[in-house]
Amino acid sequence: MANVIVIGAQWGDEGKGKITDLLSSSADVVVRSQGGVNAGHTVVVAGQTFKLHLIPSGILYPDTECIIGSGTVIDPEVVIEEMEQLKKLGVTIDNLYISQTAHITMPYHRSIDRASEERRGDYKIGTTGRGIGPTYADKSERTGVRVLDLMDSKLLPEKLEWTINYKNVILEKLYNLPPLDPKEVIKEYLKYAEYLRPYVIDSSLKIYEAVKKKKNILFEGAQGTLLDLDHGTYPYVTSSNPIAGGACVGSGVGPTIIDRVIGVAKAYTTRVGEGPFPTELTEEIGQLLGDRGAEFGTTTGRSRRCGWFDAVIGRYAVRINGLDCLAITKLDVLDTLEEIKVCVAYEIDGETCYHFPSNASHFANCKPVYKTLPGWQQPTTECRTLEDLPQQALDYLKFLAELMEVPIAIISLGASRDQTIIVEDPIHGPKRALLDADGSPVNEG
Ligand code: IMP
Repeated sequence: MANVIVIGAQWGDEGKGKITDLLSSSADVVVRSQGGVNAGHTVVVAGQTFKLHLIPSGILYPDTECIIGSGTVIDPEVVIEEMEQLKKLGVTIDNLYISQTAHITMPYHRSIDRASEERRGDYKIGTTGRGIGPTYADKSERTGVRVLDLMDSKLLPEKLEWTINYKNVILEKLYNLPPLDPKEVIKEYLKYAEYLRPYVIDSSLKIYEAVKKKKNILFEGAQGTLLDLDHGTYPYVTSSNPIAGGACVGSGVGPTIIDRVIGVAKAYTTRVGEGPFPTELTEEIGQLLGDRGAEFGTTTGRSRRCGWFDAVIGRYAVRINGLDCLAITKLDVLDTLEEIKVCVAYEIDGETCYHFPSNASHFANCKPVYKTLPGWQQPTTECRTLEDLPQQALDYLKFLAELMEVPIAIISLGASRDQTIIVEDPIHGPKRALLDADGSPVNEG
């Protein structure tokens, strides 16, 4: 039995969809614990591409129970569309469950998200415009609508009438937008409620029962460490906690049930939306990485900004999430490069800094310190074992693992399930060694 958290170790879009899909084959339950339809996971199975936003990637295995946990925010319109699309593609969704305490994204959340971004001007965050921030803001403000409310057809109209009238003041007076008609919204959401009702459960209880039966549970992260509300590059972050600790909060489980934490990182770095990005490449090589890596957002279609691998961020992700091992994705995107740079440290005001600066203005002004490695300039997409990889690719991976003090358990060389090298069993293989006081592994030598 093993309960595993899979998280993004960069700014999201690391290829978690493929890795969770791979690991889902040995999972009995897959849980999404935060975020909403801002996420986009692309999974390719037998040549068929599935683009998922909120439904866990495990849905492609009919015997795997998939739970949309209490820490998520649910836009019923989009989720129902996703459910219908899966059904059309012949994927069963009888194994899907939705937490009764998750929060609901309402039409005013989407409007406020877009309008407030516009209002921010130069200070905009570059959100996905899916209403995520305003939904979480209402959760904190305690004016949110939960799945439980949606299921209560008697109380829902009363609650929505009050909330929509309250939000209309904001829409009209602050943003100069037309008000919503409460009756229309209530009618629409009562319809969604009936569609979703069969899937709604007490998710924390269901997960607890699975723990007691010693089932394998996979906690599927969305977004990434640097987008974490508390530990990311604030304010250019999302409104939930995509770090490993967030998986427990957003699923309603205690940390003692977690056996492993696996981080997913691309062999280079990407970021969508605004905010500082020290290793960003704005010219030819950035364009090449974007083209070869098909770096367009699954949710918004926006081009992702591309840059060299940043090991300072990598080390930070190891620390914040307590990573046991890493999955490195899209190594093949680097195949044509003559040389490859890795950011090993930052220079901030003339000082070399090896640790991620939590001060946003330091981060915005840091300069990357690079180490240059030779490229391998040959295709790797057909490699299936470490021995198949060119020596320079192996050296590159070894360098990353050494910099981050964490083993690489999985290497991904393409979108398909088979374009993968399993270096060591990420779930049952050796755990990351603890570090002693001076930062070196205790079992070294
Ligand atoms: P929001 O989550 O829509 O509020 O957007 C806040 C920030 O997080 C923006 O920079 C988005 O581009 C980014 N973001 C949100 N979800 C994802 C994701 O799944 N992948 C990458 N970036 C994301």
